[in-house]
Amino acid sequence: MPAIPYVNGLKFSLGFAREGYEYIYNTCHKYQTEIFKTNVLLNDVICLTGEEATKLFYDTTKFERRKAIPKPIQKTLLGENGVQTLDAEKHKQRKAMFMSVMSPESISRFKAILSEHWRRYIIKWENTEKVVLFKEAQEILCKSACAWAGVPLPDREVRSRADDFVGMVDAFGTIGIRHWKGRAARSRTEEWITNIIQDVRQGKSTPFPGSPLSVVANANELNTHMAAVELINLTRPIVAISYYIAFIAHALYHHPECHQSLLMHDEGYLENFTHEVRRYYPFGPITGARVKEDFEWKGYPFKKGTLVFLDIYGTNRDRRVWSNPSTFNPERFKVWNKSAFNFIPQGGGGHMAGHRCAGEQITIETMKISTNYLANYIGYNVPEQDMTIDLTRIPTYPKSGFIIDHITVKD
Ligand code: HEM
Repeated sequence: MPAIPYVNGLKFSLGFAREGYEYIYNTCHKYQTEIFKTNVLLNDVICLTGEEATKLFYDTTKFERRKAIPKPIQKTLLGENGVQTLDAEKHKQRKAMFMSVMSPESISRFKAILSEHWRRYIIKWENTEKVVLFKEAQEILCKSACAWAGVPLPDREVRSRADDFVGMVDAFGTIGIRHWKGRAARSRTEEWITNIIQDVRQGKSTPFPGSPLSVVANANELNTHMAAVELINLTRPIVAISYYIAFIAHALYHHPECHQSLLMHDEGYLENFTHEVRRYYPFGPITGARVKEDFEWKGYPFKKGTLVFLDIYGTNRDRRVWSNPSTFNPERFKVWNKSAFNFIPQGGGGHMAGHRCAGEQITIETMKISTNYLANYIGYNVPEQDMTIDLTRIPTYPKSGFIIDHITVKD
């Protein structure tokens, strides 16, 4: 039985700090492997990258999510004991609740709300000296997410609630100040959403039937706190699409030929552009699971209980699947084989049976609408600024937040 290539724990931690998103893939490339073992806080960890490894990772007979997500991530980004931590029948039932609000009708309702907020914001921007797109997008998305979900949001609270949603995302995998800010943001948000769910359960308010608030508040198996955690799992990630909106603007700026093609209103090109933004730009670096029972893969031993990290960023840039992976090229999706395992910005496998992102379709639709507004509905200037994307910061975004000025609304 071959031994899994081993990277010393200290080397791993230093490498991850130095190379960030690129570290697992760089290491695999260096040692010509799709798997290596290391040690994090005295625990064995197996790192995997690439399509075949992704197929393995999403085999629920071999992996489970129980105890796979570190508590610091649950206390900030995800909330404790949410859908991400469940397995088997319990996961299936909870995931069905999430997917029930992702019907075509529900997504159409979201799209209409989002388009209306985009319209209001671009009109406001015409009279504004400059706009930090990342920040403004957070407000647009926060208002849209809450309106869609059925969560009342007074105008005066939009900025602070958006900051808290983003604060939870920004805490991913960090220690220190960003972690503590994330915890505070989660406490405030959970308190807010818990009260709203309580009001529904006590008959003091009646949300739109089929809306996320209605579905979650009526899920009797969830206590009020768990219902709040799951409703936040349906709203926070919508606000997180602001990272992708900043990347869309970055891509339009650096690839005027793409901007030009988007002027043609070709739905296929728009979708491919959206996919390429999700493939090319860094967002989720890894996801994790634990080995359910001992097994072997390609002769390598996987021991029960071992933590396994799947390299999201590297799989999206794997040279064995993606030619010139460091080139931004939406056309590559014209010939993509639509595998559920080689393009995994929001996880792989199936949406219903596994842990693949429940909000992938809503993300794609949000990105398409946002791209359209930026490419077709407004004109703007991009002033000099530092739009560096630091790959050692997780999650990352263009440093300036992407500033635009001289904004005009097109007829
Ligand atoms: C899970 C990425 C947007 C809801 C995930 C996973 C990733 C991901 C990587 C984990 C996959 C795994 O562990 O196998 C993203 C990215 C987004 C996004 C990059 C863009 C900003 C959304 C949206 C929603 C959402 C808009 C809901 C409105 C969820 C839920 C899960 C999840 C509920 C857990 C699914 C499960 O455990 O079964 N997402 N997501 N996400 N996402 Fe997203």
